[in-house]
Amino acid sequence: MSKIFPPKADSPPVKKFSEGFLWGAATSAHQVEGNNHNDWTEWEVKNSKIKIQNAKLQKWPNYILQNYPNPLQEENYISGKACDHYNRYEEDFDLAKKMSNNAHRFSIEWSRVEPEEGKFDSEVIEHYRDVIRALRERGIEPFVTLWHWTNPVWVRDIGGWENPKTINYFLRYARKIVQSLDIKFWITINEPSVYAGASYLFGQFPPNVKSWMRSNRVLKNLFEAHCKCYDFLHEYYGNSIAVGLSHNLHYHRPRRKKNFLDWLAVFFVNYIRDTRQIRLTQGKEDFIGLNYYYLDMIQFVFGGGRFGIADVKNPNHWKSDMGWEIFPEGIYHVLKDLNKYNKPIYITENGLADANDINRGKFIQEHLQWILKAIGEGVDVRGYFHWSLLDNFEWDKGFWPRFGLVEIDYETLERKPRLSSKVYAEIAKANGINETTKVKEEK
Ligand code: BGC
Repeated sequence: MSKIFPPKADSPPVKKFSEGFLWGAATSAHQVEGNNHNDWTEWEVKNSKIKIQNAKLQKWPNYILQNYPNPLQEENYISGKACDHYNRYEEDFDLAKKMSNNAHRFSIEWSRVEPEEGKFDSEVIEHYRDVIRALRERGIEPFVTLWHWTNPVWVRDIGGWENPKTINYFLRYARKIVQSLDIKFWITINEPSVYAGASYLFGQFPPNVKSWMRSNRVLKNLFEAHCKCYDFLHEYYGNSIAVGLSHNLHYHRPRRKKNFLDWLAVFFVNYIRDTRQIRLTQGKEDFIGLNYYYLDMIQFVFGGGRFGIADVKNPNHWKSDMGWEIFPEGIYHVLKDLNKYNKPIYITENGLADANDINRGKFIQEHLQWILKAIGEGVDVRGYFHWSLLDNFEWDKGFWPRFGLVEIDYETLERKPRLSSKVYAEIAKANGINETTKVKEEK
């Protein structure tokens, strides 16, 4: 039933990526490890019933409802044992190696390392050393994220990232990790703007706050933590390492091409969501981590009691299972724009929810075509990490969105590489893209 778009076996790559280009997939601790205890796990239990009530109000396609767990089941909203990656990482890295991956991005779970304030768990640190060893044994370069959205419960109890004290606590934890793990590529924080927005502006993630001021405070603290962590990492390792941050950046387009107000709205949204983020790092990035997912069509609305900026969806657009508008060309525009910062760029996330694996192969190929076009025009892109290696716990949506190159059977925990993983493997192995998909020039 799955349909993929494999490159023709007999046509040689039209264009190669540079030698040493990094090919990988990304995960985050809370989404795959299982059996965590942090601010999310407590929130999940309290919220699962409300989530089901809300899910019942939506129309779900059968191919989602037939899966386990699905949006109408309580298990969907509780991370629980997740993929049990904490115990099965070797098996998972074997799959990454089979995909010809030479890099892997993952995160360290702060709540495991420091379950109580000031008490570090040496066994957990040893575990992450083993994880890194397992990657290196397979010729896979580790990219380590220090914080991917989850907090120890004691950090939540002091007010989380709203409290400036959390910056120092984070730095103490980061120092412990930095001194314990021998890593070249560090990502301090994942998508500060998404976290600050979802948790403190839109009230979607714990602690469900809806306040512009509080969200800004959190954003500021996260960026301050990043900058201080950047300095510490370089004091400790000198210039033998590279430190970055993963930014979620968007491609915004005006819905009406000839409407000045729509252009103005695009300019404003672009500044608030994207440009501001890079400015807040104050140049303390050795590379830019780019997480790119979808297209945002922006419209200025005025009239009928409405005034403001709207993100407009096009019902006929190519979409993922989560309704995100797939637009490979967007990554090219974002990359071209980032070029002005004159830094190497790693695509630290790019992917889609696609339970039937109908679109993933084509998605990967087309995004990579556009990345190649940007590289051809002088943008220094050095690696690509698909999101994600495995199906995983998609935060407040739970397990139903299937982002994995590898499918997880959540009952048996069996791993099944999807057909699209073969497309990705072929590209990584050839370090280039085959002729079947040509970059479409912008109209
Ligand atoms: C996050 C991931 C998440 C992915 C898909 C990114 O913004 O870093 O944790 O699973 O998007 O929603």
